[in-house]
Amino acid sequence: MNILVTGGAGFIGSHTIIELYRAGHTAVVVDNLSNSKPESLRRVAQILKEEGVTGDSFQGVPFHEVDIRDRKGLDRVFEQYSFDACIHFAGLKAVGESVSKPIEYYENNISGTLVLVQAMRDHGVKNIIFSSSATVYGNPEIIPITEECPKGVCTNPYGWTKSMLEQVLTDMQAADKEWNVVLLRYFNPIGAHKSGLIGENPNGIPNNLMPYVTQVAVGKRAELGVFGNDYDTPDGTGVRDYIHVVDLARGHVCALKAIERKCGLGLYNLGTGHGYSVLDVVKAFERVNGVKVPYSIKPRRPGDIATCYSDPSKAERELGWKAQYGLEDMVRDSWNWQRNNPDGF
Ligand code: NAD
Ligand code: WQD
Repeated sequence: MNILVTGGAGFIGSHTIIELYRAGHTAVVVDNLSNSKPESLRRVAQILKEEGVTGDSFQGVPFHEVDIRDRKGLDRVFEQYSFDACIHFAGLKAVGESVSKPIEYYENNISGTLVLVQAMRDHGVKNIIFSSSATVYGNPEIIPITEECPKGVCTNPYGWTKSMLEQVLTDMQAADKEWNVVLLRYFNPIGAHKSGLIGENPNGIPNNLMPYVTQVAVGKRAELGVFGNDYDTPDGTGVRDYIHVVDLARGHVCALKAIERKCGLGLYNLGTGHGYSVLDVVKAFERVNGVKVPYSIKPRRPGDIATCYSDPSKAERELGWKAQYGLEDMVRDSWNWQRNNPDGF
């Protein structure tokens, strides 16, 4: 299949493009580079050539610097190619920033997606895989979280954009059964491609745990703040379902098979089903990589919950997808990326 990948220069998008090509698909990227660099796509091409997935003459994944809110820009892309489906990663994702800039987040994520799906419809491309998030469960009623768990109250505008967009896409599919929509609720993606050539490249001070840990380990930050050790968890620190970004990327390839089967509406958790605490992650990182990660306990971060991990069995049953990598792989690959690229791309 030929796939339009919005946000394809970003962390999850770049890894997904590799898995798409490995599975025999091709991709075209649309990204406005607001949170990424074109270098990531140059590295993707390098990996594909080095792994022998494409020939040496491969010119790279076609890339268009277009904002998804720009209808005319999107039209030009749709006129140039024939797409079978879109994997829609483009969006702003910094939780804290979304609290201070709600208008920008709703505008970018919601208006952007509305412009995109109208362009898709008008060009006859009615297959979409959407990057949603475990954040839509709020403080989950059931642990491990199954897809039957009701959506909850989000604690920030970013989370609401995901929750609202799930509703938009669900309503769109209900009204027009030609659409196939797969909503993928990611848990906590970390890790990097094993080559160390691509990985997560946050701007400024990282919000998320793993990039913070790797920046401490590489000496860019003095110590990690552990946000609370008085949660009702085995060691008092927050428990999450970390998933290797390459496993997550493979999940999108499996979701394309559901689209080929004309699945209508699909909704899947993509997680490992294992919960690890902040200190589990720090200790695994130190042990596997042989580096110290100094930390101190800080107050809880507003909006955080104690425990969040998935029941991923629906994705295994219906998509034939299961995470293959464990925590040791994730901390090793995250460090390999950071160590080789201390300043990112
Ligand atoms: P990322 O920031 O690395 O990638 C997103 C990409 O979208 C960036 O390259 C950015 O430049 C681009 N983009 C943003 N707004 C755009 C616009 N208006 N037009 C065109 N391009 C635009 O983030 P990521 O971690 O790769 O996340 C990908 C998707 O997965 C996002 O939708 C994110 O919300 C979602 N998600 C991420 C996580 C996570 O922890 N990383 C978890 C759950 C869901
Ligand atoms: C993980 C754990 C923190 C940083 C967020 C979004 C979610 C999704 C994934 C996009 C928590 C602790 C963190 C630090 C810490 N993104 N922590 N010190 O909050 O589970 O999820 O990213 O969709 O929507 O909310 O991930 O990596 O920020 O935190 O102690 O410097 O690490 O308290 O327990 P989170 P995270």
